[in-house]
Amino acid sequence: MPLARSLSVTSLSGLEEWDEEFDREDAVLFEIAWEVANKVGGIYTVIQTKARLTCEEWGENYFLVGPYMESSVRTQVELIEPCNATLRRTIDKMNSSGCKAYFGRWLIEGSPYVILLDVGFTAWSLDRWKIELWENCSIGVPWFDREANDAVLFGFLTAWLLGEVCTQCDEPPHIVAHFHEWLAGLGLVLCRQRQLPVATIFTTHATLLGRYLCAGSVDFYNKLAEFNVDKEAGDRQIYHRYCLERAAARCAHVFTTVSQITAIEAEHLLKRKPDIVTPNGLNVKKFSAMHEFQNLHAQSKARIQEFVRGHFYGHLDFNLDKTVFLFIAGRYEFSNKGADLFLEALARLNYLLRVNHSEVTIIAFFIMPARTNNFNVETLKGQAVRKQLWDTAQTVKERFGKKLYESLLVGQLPDVSKMLDKEDFTMMKRAIFATQRQCLPPICTHNMLEDSSDPILNCIRRIGLFNSAQDRVKVIFHPEFLSSTSPLLPMDYEEFVRGCHLGVFPSYYEPWGYTPAECTVMGIPSISTNLSGFGCFMEEHIADPSAYGIYILDRRYRGVDESCNQLTSFLFQFCQQSRRQRIIQRNRTERLSDLLDWRYLGRATGFRYPRPASVPPSPAHSLHSSPHHSEAEDEEEPYDEDLEVEKDRVNIRQPFNLPNRNKNQTVGLPEKN
Ligand code: UDP
Ligand code: G6P
Ligand code: GLC
Repeated sequence: MPLARSLSVTSLSGLEEWDEEFDREDAVLFEIAWEVANKVGGIYTVIQTKARLTCEEWGENYFLVGPYMESSVRTQVELIEPCNATLRRTIDKMNSSGCKAYFGRWLIEGSPYVILLDVGFTAWSLDRWKIELWENCSIGVPWFDREANDAVLFGFLTAWLLGEVCTQCDEPPHIVAHFHEWLAGLGLVLCRQRQLPVATIFTTHATLLGRYLCAGSVDFYNKLAEFNVDKEAGDRQIYHRYCLERAAARCAHVFTTVSQITAIEAEHLLKRKPDIVTPNGLNVKKFSAMHEFQNLHAQSKARIQEFVRGHFYGHLDFNLDKTVFLFIAGRYEFSNKGADLFLEALARLNYLLRVNHSEVTIIAFFIMPARTNNFNVETLKGQAVRKQLWDTAQTVKERFGKKLYESLLVGQLPDVSKMLDKEDFTMMKRAIFATQRQCLPPICTHNMLEDSSDPILNCIRRIGLFNSAQDRVKVIFHPEFLSSTSPLLPMDYEEFVRGCHLGVFPSYYEPWGYTPAECTVMGIPSISTNLSGFGCFMEEHIADPSAYGIYILDRRYRGVDESCNQLTSFLFQFCQQSRRQRIIQRNRTERLSDLLDWRYLGRATGFRYPRPASVPPSPAHSLHSSPHHSEAEDEEEPYDEDLEVEKDRVNIRQPFNLPNRNKNQTVGLPEKN
């Protein structure tokens, strides 16, 4: 790398050595990411969920730095005057020198301070800064890469901000700057190159090359050590991005990543072993009523069922009470996120359910944003038809009720055969006629712009899952993130997850994977893989993950076809559970929440959840670790097995003696058992 020419990364250049126990009062933390108050994917979730705790720890000395995005600011940020004199002077100085920096509070839990930098406003500096970047770091960024241009602008602006803070302080405090991901990485490189007295941390949430290589057809994990990284980056036209990322990783005083598996990847692809692995947590909210999350499941499920009634109008030949809702959600990376494997497994599951004459119907939702031009007519019509049927039923009910009331008023029991008149029947027949349909219920809820080349749609065409009556597995592709203001499915993502039965995330490339983690804290079982940070983390900390509703698919040591069979068998077994078994399993899943809580994550090393006491000791007696149950199958009230497990329950909330996290611990792929 030419970079080494001008940057010394081993020294503490510009930074005095700090006492080990410096006073937090005298330290300021800046956390810098492109996803601050700007939702793209999981990095937003990291920062948003961690904010409350970080604010508690750092108080007034914590500042998030992100890009200024007008639409997000309007809904998420309250702009205010800078909270102290140094920042006021810093921001005034920057704003009077041709840039726009805003100060505010991000309206999330913890209400952290945010400094938002308008990269568009400073675009006039792009060429000058690119020349500086080339001259000082030998990284050339081509004009056509918009994302990289933004990274350059954002990087120079953040380095300017931090430099200005140092200048504006009479006696600079200890400044820690934590940068996330390559898009924010240049700011770190410039801090080092300008020798600012700032301690830097770089966290990578994925490597660029890893993501690109996996999306192709390479045997990524077995070839990690062999890639010619410069060539691979060049072949994919991301060499400049790769240089920015690698420079940030190399220059940081502390380099971290979110999982062991990504640590190994970083060591090979970025040529630096992370100093420490910092798994991602969540801001876990406990309900005072223990089974509140079960009630929420029932409420949200009812709303999904309502949507399904509309979507499948005219073809509602299955029992909604025996219908299981599965879903996959996240950024649309077809094979990295394992949507390919999920579809293939659904086709196999469809076959299994059919030959076994199962009464269960599966509805699999794909929530992955793609390019569309709005909802399609057939989908909207479905909801309109459902509403019309509902309105008709209400009208007839009212008329019926009125007649009943009048009859009772005169002291007579009504003649039931006369309660509905001709007009009522006509109205009802008309409503039923409106449910006739010439086509099958649509797969996709939107008009896709790239319909003929869309990977999910093409795969569905190939495997023939068209929502026909014979299919036990139905598919709905919603190519847009969910929103409570949607006219079609007015639910936000959290409500939707709560209403489903199982999240399916068979990723091939997933440094962490928030989606299954979010399922866990909501008490919804999920499938992840031993190639995802989350899956490996859970495998390490739970003795029998599947008993807790954490199914971990083996994509590391099995071929694609074998993994697909394993996924099919997980799904088939899940479908065979009774309602009561599902309720028990959800209780167990939810019990793992503390493990993923930012507050207790630091204690996770060495911690292991035992097998639930109610799982029979020998697998021969149980069906795939599914919750053991009595003959009383489908009881409605949630089953409380807490008393049973209390005796061997280990509580991560209680402080206990653990070996200190060894910062130099070697990272290795999980060994095959
Ligand atoms: N998500 C969302 N709305 C949706 C689907 C997903 O907000 O309709 C969020 C989800 O809550 C999660 C994030 O998108 O926090 C995806 O993060 P993950 O780490 O799973 O994957 P990434 O996209 O970062 O690779
Ligand atoms: C929750 C509710 C129960 C409901 C059940 C449905 O546990 O508290 O009242 O019966 O969900 O579970 P299912 O897995 O069938 O959606
Ligand atoms: C990245 C990864 C995802 C991870 C997220 C937060 O976007 O793709 O796996 O959960 O960052 O660390």
